[in-house]
Amino acid sequence: MISRNDPCWCGSGQKWKKCHYPKQPIQTFDVLKREYKQKHNILLKTPEEIDKIRAASRLAAHILDELCKAAVEGVTTQQLDDLCMKLHKKHNAKPAPLNYGSPPYPKSICTSLNEVVCHGIPDERPLQNGDILNIDVTSILDGYFGDNSRMVCIGKVDAEKQLVVDTSYNCLMESIAILKPGVLLNEIGNVIESVARKAKCSVVYQFVGHGHGIAFHEEPQIYHSYNNIKIPLVEGMTFTIEPMINAGVPEAKIDKKDGWTARTADLKPSAQWEHTVLITKDGHEILTLLKKN
Ligand code: MF3
Ligand code: CO
Ligand code: CO
Repeated sequence: MISRNDPCWCGSGQKWKKCHYPKQPIQTFDVLKREYKQKHNILLKTPEEIDKIRAASRLAAHILDELCKAAVEGVTTQQLDDLCMKLHKKHNAKPAPLNYGSPPYPKSICTSLNEVVCHGIPDERPLQNGDILNIDVTSILDGYFGDNSRMVCIGKVDAEKQLVVDTSYNCLMESIAILKPGVLLNEIGNVIESVARKAKCSVVYQFVGHGHGIAFHEEPQIYHSYNNIKIPLVEGMTFTIEPMINAGVPEAKIDKKDGWTARTADLKPSAQWEHTVLITKDGHEILTLLKKN
């Protein structure tokens, strides 16, 4: 077998490595980055950007953890919002939801209770025994974003609520488990929808996960239900998966009065969990996974 420093087989007298040694494939990260931007408007992140997004994601996970610990019977969602503001200030960060969108979102977190699918606005209602609550925290640290949400059960919850809480968690984690370069984007929705159906639950199709990190909501949209978007995952993609799973019908309706609160059309319970993930060379990393210590 010829090695790099042997004379080239062509007889030039030069070392093989300087002569006919095969060139590296030209599909470098830079080429891919340009292609994904042009074709799909997807921003592939550089290692430096990934470090910043990881830091923002870790902070968002830490703040979410603190809010979940504080969410007990008798506490209002406004008090959780106040704590969220305080923790962001302490870490020199900003909560992304505040004044986001149109009409401007009025608070710093989303708190979605029971039949609320997403974008519930914190208020003065105290948490009650039997409530299920989604807390969604998005942090901006040093200009970069991290987004995650979890469910909290207050006291003893009924079987239907427990089912959506558990199923939405399983949907999220099972869809993350398949992530690696080459997997098609729509395989995420396939996993989520099949896990939900097996549990006799439905998947909200009006809200999606999203590219994330440099901005709050980037391309691509991540559908949680069956879909036909066959973009291959590649290294350097960062996005959220955040399945909203309902006990009854999949439809959500937005409150006309506040323009944000989305409830199930049949007012049956809904639950959601969310992580920000990174596609790596041979798999994935959950950026918002809370690391103890
Ligand atoms: N954090 C939510 C998401 O997962 C978005 C909330 S929009 C807001 O994408 F305006 F309510 F913040
Ligand atoms: Co999100
Ligand atoms: Co979120």
